[in-house]
Amino acid sequence: MQLEIENFADQFQYFPGTRYMGSKNKIIPDIWQHLSKLDFESVYDAFAGSNVVGYFLKCQGKKVITNDFLSFSQTFSKAIIENSFVKLDKSDIKSLLKKNKNNGFISETFRDIFFSEEENEFLDRVRKNISQLDNEYKTSLALAALVRACMKKRSRGIFTFVGERYNDGRADMKKLLEQHFLESIEIFNQAVFENGQENISLNERTEKQNVKADLVYFDPPYFTPKSDNDYLRRYHFVEGLVRNWEGITIQEHSIVKKFASYKSPFAKKETTYTAFENLFHKFQNSIIVISYSSNSFPAKDELTAMLSKYKSKVVVHEIDHTYSFGNQNHKIGNKNNRVKEYLFIGL
Ligand SMILES: C[S@@+](CC[C@H](N)C(=O)[O-])C[C@H]1O[C@@H](n2cnc3c(N)ncnc32)[C@H](O)[C@@H]1O
Repeated sequence: MQLEIENFADQFQYFPGTRYMGSKNKIIPDIWQHLSKLDFESVYDAFAGSNVVGYFLKCQGKKVITNDFLSFSQTFSKAIIENSFVKLDKSDIKSLLKKNKNNGFISETFRDIFFSEEENEFLDRVRKNISQLDNEYKTSLALAALVRACMKKRSRGIFTFVGERYNDGRADMKKLLEQHFLESIEIFNQAVFENGQENISLNERTEKQNVKADLVYFDPPYFTPKSDNDYLRRYHFVEGLVRNWEGITIQEHSIVKKFASYKSPFAKKETTYTAFENLFHKFQNSIIVISYSSNSFPAKDELTAMLSKYKSKVVVHEIDHTYSFGNQNHKIGNKNNRVKEYLFIGL
């Protein structure tokens, strides 16, 4: 069967945006301006986060392999990058909302922490119904929609504080969780498309992976001594929700009921340097692209030197960008103190 040639790039407008920390959503056109000049068919997005970069490149017809050690990030990539055809239909939605007997885990554990009692009951009910779906892509779509609903309903999209601190009265805060969920299902359904490639979604530690791709894109947590870059601390609730808190030990002393962070070499200065070295060594035969910022370590010159050990040509582009609040690494509103966003390319 001949694949109908469409303009996949138009599909990008359907990407389900979230306020994911460090998301490249706003600067993806600037990144593409540089990547479009490079010759590659396949790409490995090794720290996928919101998956905006992988999804954008899927829309450019590339074969995308995406990875993040957070399971909730992987539900997004399974739902809209690896998945080419499956959508949630009316009867799926009906079965997702149906009443059931469940263990009430969320209502009990997270009472008076993030959501109202009715919302917690809704989450317990839907989470159980999701477990009964029998297709992995339907499961990912439903989980991704539930995660997006929870993030939308939280100010700043994060789970580090009790209640509604910073509630700015946005429409998103007023909407019921169920309404966010139903809207998110529509949004995720629309994002499903086929680009003629076999795209793959992974959920491992990048440092343990062996992946082959023409181009590798590294956007790890930016290390700065002044602030933590721990994603799990901010998103533990949606990570637990996706994993159904199975095999997870909640830290009982924690007011927000979080659990221990996953180990990442990007959490400390020394291990950040070694992690970059190892990645460059492992992927020296691919085009290496890195996003990093001017207030992080390794510094621009150091990273350039490290990359030059493996690559004959290294170019560094500066991208004009100020992250919005919630992105702790970046000072806002002070132009003199503006953090620069870099794109390193090793050819
Ligand atoms: C800066 S964010 C990526 C943002 C992404 N490019 C986007 O546009 O949304 C870094 C990501 O790396 C992930 N991460 C951190 N350490 C990791 C590791 N050792 N292996 C895999 N993923 C890791 C985090 O979970 C986080 O999603």
